[in-house]
Amino acid sequence: MAINTTRLDRFISDFCQVNRKAVRLMLAQKRVFVDGKLATDVAQIVDYFSYIKIDEKVAQNNQPIYIMLYKPVGVVCATKDKKHKTVIDLLKQGFSEEVTASLHIVGRLDLNTSGLVLLTNDSRWSEQLTLPDRKVNKYYQVTLAKPLSEEYISAFAQGMYFDFEKITTKPVILNIISTHKAEVILTEGRYHQIKRMFGRFRNPVVGLHRFAIGKLTLDESLNVGENRCLNKEEVTTIGD
Ligand code: URA
Repeated sequence: MAINTTRLDRFISDFCQVNRKAVRLMLAQKRVFVDGKLATDVAQIVDYFSYIKIDEKVAQNNQPIYIMLYKPVGVVCATKDKKHKTVIDLLKQGFSEEVTASLHIVGRLDLNTSGLVLLTNDSRWSEQLTLPDRKVNKYYQVTLAKPLSEEYISAFAQGMYFDFEKITTKPVILNIISTHKAEVILTEGRYHQIKRMFGRFRNPVVGLHRFAIGKLTLDESLNVGENRCLNKEEVTTIGD
């Protein structure tokens, strides 16, 4: 999602439905404040979280929101869907329509994957978590239809070539937990990546659950389908 910035004169012109000349006059008449400071430059860049007052009235006052959700199997990571319940539908009880409409999903999970999903209206934050060079780890528990072997570990670590995207996956850590269970750590999120990687061994994934992203672990006190807001420390340290 692109970071939503705009010039102040554009914001005011759209908001007040006036032309740029009128905006210049408004600034000259000291009628506009951005984040508590008198605005003097029409070219000042403002964003979705700039607090803007015009003629003593609040024109924009958006608060950043960061939510962790325990996604159930069968719920789709989308804002709208004709067939399935969406992660946004799960938030509708606790948050206003205005808030849910402002959210986007940070790293989707497949329909039949459960676990930690993050939602926010802060695109700078989500970009930091999803940028390939940041290499934020995503932790999954995987249950397989057939037994695992040591071979998988080196194949996952080496990376696999995906012909469709013409890319080789970044090294993936695979820890064998038991005959049919593994922990997988990804730093990227290619389409159906885990299922496709096990698919190379003709070993279907029968259960997939994301339990952590970076330093943030799915809160054990959340039941499936529940959510809570992140605290300040979680927001700032997640990708460290
Ligand atoms: N890999 C998958 O195959 N599915 C997911 O939901 C996440 C990673």
